[in-house]
Amino acid sequence: MTDRIEIRNLFKIFGKHPEDSLRRLREGATKETLLAETGSVLGVDNVSLNVPKGSISVIMGLSGSGKSTLARCVNRILEPDGGQILLDGEDITCCSPDQMREIRRHRISMVFQNFGLLPNKTVIENVGFGLKLRGMSERERQRKAEEMLEVVGLSAWGSHLPASLSGGMRQRVGLARALATEADVLIMDEAFSALDPLIRSEMQDELLRLQTRLHKTVLFITHDFQEALRLGTRIAIMADGALIREGAPQEIVEDPRSEYVAGFTRGVDRARLFDAQSIMRTDERDGFRLDKKGRVESWRKEGGPSMDFMTVNLEDKLIEIARRARSGRPIAVIDDTGRFCGHIPQDALLAGIAGAGDATPKSETKEPVA
Ligand SMILES: Nc1ncnc2c1ncn2[C@@H]1O[C@H](COP(=O)(O)OP(=O)(O)O)[C@@H](O)[C@H]1O
Ligand SMILES: [Mg+2]
Repeated sequence: MTDRIEIRNLFKIFGKHPEDSLRRLREGATKETLLAETGSVLGVDNVSLNVPKGSISVIMGLSGSGKSTLARCVNRILEPDGGQILLDGEDITCCSPDQMREIRRHRISMVFQNFGLLPNKTVIENVGFGLKLRGMSERERQRKAEEMLEVVGLSAWGSHLPASLSGGMRQRVGLARALATEADVLIMDEAFSALDPLIRSEMQDELLRLQTRLHKTVLFITHDFQEALRLGTRIAIMADGALIREGAPQEIVEDPRSEYVAGFTRGVDRARLFDAQSIMRTDERDGFRLDKKGRVESWRKEGGPSMDFMTVNLEDKLIEIARRARSGRPIAVIDDTGRFCGHIPQDALLAGIAGAGDATPKSETKEPVA
């Protein structure tokens, strides 16, 4: 997977003499001592992070952990004080203001909280509004806006004013507008955080659905770990300006690596998060017998009777598997082509759902940054 964005050793300091602060940090100052000694706030502390093409990469952290600062540094609305931002392999920290404007217009677009529709413009005009600012022709704009409205299922509402739509529909219009831009890297800073829970969960589904069609690269920022789990291909967790853990959602829940991260992962519904692949055994074949193409034919142990078995796909979630499982019935995991990949013993299924040892991190280490 190629990376659209690479953040390398990024620093952002709010204060009078960032150079001096950087020197102090190199000499061992911390966020606290820096603040105490100089009054400067360390907003982003040596963060390195890659955003793979087509992913939804989530930055998660409590309020004040530096998420927005990091996000704004990525498109240089805020100027980083150290480090690099690579966009498609090219360092944009040395681009001129004009070049940056072009980049923001055509390549990275930023979506803010409560999408703020213009009340006196129709739905279709709202969706096309961002494109107008980009100097697209009337005709092209209309076509693009109609296409996006169709994608979010609101084709019939184009000529209405926002006030005649429900809250959830207005949010979808906002999302359509955000996605209508030609920029295929989107930074969404707490875009859903102000929504009430039902609409929020609808919007999360909507984003996931749109993503399967549009394949944008999304840097999604949230303070909500559940939201991070739901949306993230990858999740990066920040605390005090630093990145303390990065990985796939399952990996992080499986091994939080610090008490701090474990605080978020406790109580996570593992059955909905983990899939067959994550718990299957591949070291032995149990009693499964395969045909020439590697597909499961039957289950029988040496000298024993053959037995009815079930198959599940690599990506099937544990909750689905548990619903279909019957006591004692062997479970084979197969890929898209039907080939045997591994099997799931009953106790592994139970342990996977219950999360054996999930309350304590396996190793109390800070993720090495860079
Ligand atoms: N313009 C600013 N001047 C001084 N400090 C700031 C400024 N913007 C943010 N900060 C500080 O930087 C830290 C990170 O803030 P922010 O990135 O907004 O966090 P988050 O988005 O995770 O809530 C906080 O301590 C905040 O007070
Ligand atoms: Mg913020």
